[in-house]
Amino acid sequence: MCGIVGYAGSGSAKEMILSGLNALKYRGYDSAGIALVRKGKLLVRKESGKLEALEAKVGGAEFDAPLGIGHTRWATHGAPTRENAHPHVSFDGRVAIVHNGIIENFMELKAELAQKHGIRFVSETDSEVIAHLIALYFEDDLAEAVRKAAKRMHGAYAVAAVSADDAERIVAIRKDAPLIAGLCGEGGLLASDIPALLKYTRDVYLIENDEIVIVTKDSVQIFDEELTRLNRTKTHIDWDAVAAERGGYEHFMMKEIHEQPTGIKETLRHRVDAKKELLLDDLAFTKEELDAVDRIYIVACGTASHAGLVGKPVIEKYARIPVEVDLSSEFRYRNPIVTEHTLVLAISQSGETSDTIEAIREAKRRGAKVLSVVNVKGSSIARESDHVFYSAAGPEIAVASTKAYTTQIVSLYLIALHMGRLRGTVSAADCKKLVEALEQTPALVEKVIKDEKRIRKLAKEHYKKEKIFFVGRGADVATAQEASLKLKEITYINSFAIAAGELKHGTIALITRNVFFFAVATQSYLYEKMLSNIEEMKARKAEIVAVVKEGDKRVKEIADEVFAIPDCGDEIAPIVAVVFFQLFAYHVAKLRGRDIDQPRNLAKSVTVE
Ligand code: G6P
Repeated sequence: MCGIVGYAGSGSAKEMILSGLNALKYRGYDSAGIALVRKGKLLVRKESGKLEALEAKVGGAEFDAPLGIGHTRWATHGAPTRENAHPHVSFDGRVAIVHNGIIENFMELKAELAQKHGIRFVSETDSEVIAHLIALYFEDDLAEAVRKAAKRMHGAYAVAAVSADDAERIVAIRKDAPLIAGLCGEGGLLASDIPALLKYTRDVYLIENDEIVIVTKDSVQIFDEELTRLNRTKTHIDWDAVAAERGGYEHFMMKEIHEQPTGIKETLRHRVDAKKELLLDDLAFTKEELDAVDRIYIVACGTASHAGLVGKPVIEKYARIPVEVDLSSEFRYRNPIVTEHTLVLAISQSGETSDTIEAIREAKRRGAKVLSVVNVKGSSIARESDHVFYSAAGPEIAVASTKAYTTQIVSLYLIALHMGRLRGTVSAADCKKLVEALEQTPALVEKVIKDEKRIRKLAKEHYKKEKIFFVGRGADVATAQEASLKLKEITYINSFAIAAGELKHGTIALITRNVFFFAVATQSYLYEKMLSNIEEMKARKAEIVAVVKEGDKRVKEIADEVFAIPDCGDEIAPIVAVVFFQLFAYHVAKLRGRDIDQPRNLAKSVTVE
């Protein structure tokens, strides 16, 4: 997704900006650009493709400047061309801007700017209108011009602007798109995301909606939308910068797969005492509040929504509250039945996914309370929720989510138990049982990871397949869906997941000799049913690799191959089995020579609709 970096100071703006943009590479982008202010002149360079192309363009000393802004763009309006890349420059050449988000009324603004002011547009982006608007309002105070322009814009935006006619400062404004600022020894910094600034400072201002921030070489000043100065305090970021680097692995994805045992331990840490009682101080809701809840909606996108599918039956079992899982993009538009008795549980790794943010806003408008499971501290979803439960996966860089998923499931289980204990629907003994099982999980995940050689061998046997199906029942449906998503994301193999019981209602028509299936059969209470489904597929000559628990004897009689995960309870199995599929997808992607950490067309955090 798009990234913004700005710098004003005594160092080299281009170096600081490029270093910040490089730190945001993991979010995905397809073009990049920079605007520098040097000796009363605005220098703008942009390139489609990788940052290296831009770096090569601004290598010369004529680009040494004390102030500037940069951007990596992930195309939404308009193709990833140089014209559409940011920064965009105003019609009169005085103002350059970078923008994350979307200007919903850009068509009207564009028409007005063209008709009334004869402005010719050079890009297909919604963002270009911002540059022209600011220039129209710009007399001698850039902040005043930004303020006025923002009043005309509807939508979501983090915008940073510079001008050679107000050359000492960067002016930025945000509404529903992340923006942070900070100071380091060499100057003032601005960015859309924390990792861009980590190398330079750990104390940052989190800019709020409708606030304007002015960054100069020695100050960060924050104002409200009328340009009244605000007094804000900094937030200390305690992320380990090294944790955000690959740590010896060839890809972030592999590193993050290996970090799952630690992530699970961290998610449990401080939340369970020696007696295996829960200590969930983060969830400050009372028994009365919870008793008033008659329905829970889980809202999430992508991998997070699969974690929701795993969490749903567990919350229902322990908390005895009906749970529905909804995709955020569907929930927000379908007039959901949400009242003050509804609890909306949002799950998001980044905490910045636009559809999920809008889903919780919709829920709040209708009087619901929002609890979120989020991985990134201080993210938008965390800030807008009534209660936040942080998964402790640590920064996840690879686009394909792995450790965020398993820690989200653990988080949901803890929430389920906590709710059950508060409501009196789960006994201390049953609570202790699941907590102890969760504490065993890191070792079980470790065991699957240790089986990597076998998984790599399986990948070698199957990496040329053009189509792969995944089936399961109960919680294994979610595992099948997540397995299929991982495979699609990083290998580009056409894959499809379905509840095994549904096969006979249509999909079975696709089964002919050698059609390839993964059959997940880890749920004991559904074991016999899964066996019949596997028989059903085998009778049609499908090729089947079954994923079962250790000790299984019967599946291996029918399936072509079996991968056994360590024996564990049914509730724990989804956390363990998925690790096999993450590694399988990884090795297939590697054999196919894919860009594993940054697959085509995908972004780590989707902050536009
Ligand atoms: C993007 C990512 C997925 C992720 C989804 C939801 O599509 O590529 O890996 O699952 O967004 O992101 P969130 O940050 O809300 O969990």
